[in-house]
Amino acid sequence: GVAAKIAPSMLSSDFANLASEAERMLKCGADWLHMDIMALCPEFNTRCSGHSEFEKAHKVTTLTLAYLDCHLMVTNPLDYVEPMGKAGASGFTFHVEVSKDNWQELVQRIKSKGMTPGVALKPGTPIEEVYPLIEGENHVEMVLVMTVEPGFGGQKFMPEMMEKVRTLRQRYPSLDIEVDGGLGPSTIDVAASAGANCIVAGSSVFGAPEPATVISLLRSSVEG
Ligand code: DX5
Ligand code: ZN
Repeated sequence: GVAAKIAPSMLSSDFANLASEAERMLKCGADWLHMDIMALCPEFNTRCSGHSEFEKAHKVTTLTLAYLDCHLMVTNPLDYVEPMGKAGASGFTFHVEVSKDNWQELVQRIKSKGMTPGVALKPGTPIEEVYPLIEGENHVEMVLVMTVEPGFGGQKFMPEMMEKVRTLRQRYPSLDIEVDGGLGPSTIDVAASAGANCIVAGSSVFGAPEPATVISLLRSSVEG
């Protein structure tokens, strides 16, 4: 199968201590650190972190060693390519809903800054919309299937999104498929058996007395 990537969502961390929170997660066995980058975009319900906060945290820590899986919940992802590259992002995942006309240019620019391109879709967006981005000449390496409406941590997992994951996995056996929203010990098995291999988990990891235990449980469910 495809390798498991467990990605604690830093949205649920203590933002005043982002750097040490990140280090703590790496010590607990995280593969990736998921960073939600939001601007004031009504369709993404958003409120907090931008790339400057991320940049500050990045400078003061061993974070440079980590894979920073950045989820851009912004309407103008193109404007973020340069600053995110400078800030040290590893993955740059933009939303298909706001990139219908310029995804080719976007993918090219992301790659030219040494980042890995990914595409995300909101719960209401049909899976077919991402096919061209996976199959094109300048293609994305990952699809992020949102399992909650974007904007906040701690929401309820939407099991009906697993149909999208199954369809993608059948079509693309070696694609990285990420799920984001409401993942934890009680929802991981449905997501893993549908074919997700990259698992974002915010509140279930940060809210646990022993995050390392939750991370290893998520991993063993994906690895089977
Ligand atoms: C939601 C964000 C998620 C969020 C997940 O808009 O994209 O990354 O932090 O948090 P949990 O795991 O608590 O649902
Ligand atoms: Zn996210």
